[in-house]
Amino acid sequence: MGLDVVRVGLAERSYDIHIGTGTLPRIGELCREVSLKGQAAVITNPTVGSLYLQTVQESLQGAGYQVTVITIPDGEEYKCSATLESIYDDLLGAGLHRGAFIVALGGGVVGDIAGYAAATFLRGIPFVQVPTTLLAQVDSSVGGKTGINHPRGKNLIGAFYQPRLVLIDLLTLDTLPRREYLCGLAEALKYGIVLERELFDYISAATDAITAVDKDVLLHVVSACCRIKAAVVERDEREGGLRAVLNYGHTIGHAVETLTEYRRYKHGEAVAIGMAHIARLSRLLGLASGEETDRIVALMKKLGFELNLPAFPLDAFVEAIGHDKKKGDDGVTFIFNRGIGDFAMEKVTDVRGLLAELERDGASREPGE
Ligand code: NAD
Ligand code: GLY
Repeated sequence: MGLDVVRVGLAERSYDIHIGTGTLPRIGELCREVSLKGQAAVITNPTVGSLYLQTVQESLQGAGYQVTVITIPDGEEYKCSATLESIYDDLLGAGLHRGAFIVALGGGVVGDIAGYAAATFLRGIPFVQVPTTLLAQVDSSVGGKTGINHPRGKNLIGAFYQPRLVLIDLLTLDTLPRREYLCGLAEALKYGIVLERELFDYISAATDAITAVDKDVLLHVVSACCRIKAAVVERDEREGGLRAVLNYGHTIGHAVETLTEYRRYKHGEAVAIGMAHIARLSRLLGLASGEETDRIVALMKKLGFELNLPAFPLDAFVEAIGHDKKKGDDGVTFIFNRGIGDFAMEKVTDVRGLLAELERDGASREPGE
């Protein structure tokens, strides 16, 4: 079985992403390699902890670290200030000082809040990401966005704070529920559609293996996603421009989540709907051909995504998009696909007009039909 290392080159904040199967027992040794010292605080949740904590804990202890375990409740609703406070309490209670470090063991929720705790505790202590969902492996553990939700919106409080290393064990995907796996696939596909046609073609040719969670194929896919995301983050760490390309499908996706009150869809499912419909818009705007759009939609369907856009009233849809965090004063930035493997970033002032295009084209029918 292969092992890949992807470097995120950010001068003194550079780090490696280690990707392979059965890599979890190496966490202690890898922390030593990057010169982490002192006490380790592993932050996880009961779901992931019951599966993988023992391996991580034993490896860290085997490498000579004293380990404190902090377990937070499972769920997006716990990515909040109350949980953050409880983490600070536990870190202080365990006597952690500035020489210590945090290990985030879990999906994007654990990674985001543990990373933000690391960024802020005693004005910043090092942290390590051990992502266990596909979404966290291809997206959230890489690039240093950390944070929590606020009652007024998701991810409104946070910091850019890079980890010291990321360790990905593809075996953890064997226990991931199928819905969560698909959510990660949506983000993986995103890189192919707007940034690298080779990845799109590779995924297209490997759908059966991907559905079967084949580790050789996933090693290729996850490594490619990390390499592509690293290249974007290296050029635009703090989202001054280019990094916004990673929001492909997310502007419509966020509106879908908002209008269904975060109950009906998981984030990745809403993003998948957003991607399919922004692909349709890209065709309507002449940026992609009908054939390319059909390929995108057909691949998403084959992977098992449900792509119907609920028939929201146009006013509510426009309003929900207008509230997207990425909205500037003079419009909403949309990412379109230019064919497959490239993108166009456009500030749209007439959001109503754009969405009306979708309606005229038959918003309620499935894309590609
Ligand atoms: P999640 O962390 O809630 O994990 C999904 C579910 O899977 C949880 O119930 C979790 O306990 C469980 N789980 C995790 N690993 C498992 C495993 N190996 N086996 C079985 N169950 C497992 O969700 P997510 O999709 O990983 O992350 C979503 C979060 O990531 C959101 O809060 C989102 O805002 C954030 N995010 C951050 C970035 C970033 O750049 N920082 C990017 C994208 C998303
Ligand atoms: N997931 C978007 C980003 O990391 O910028």
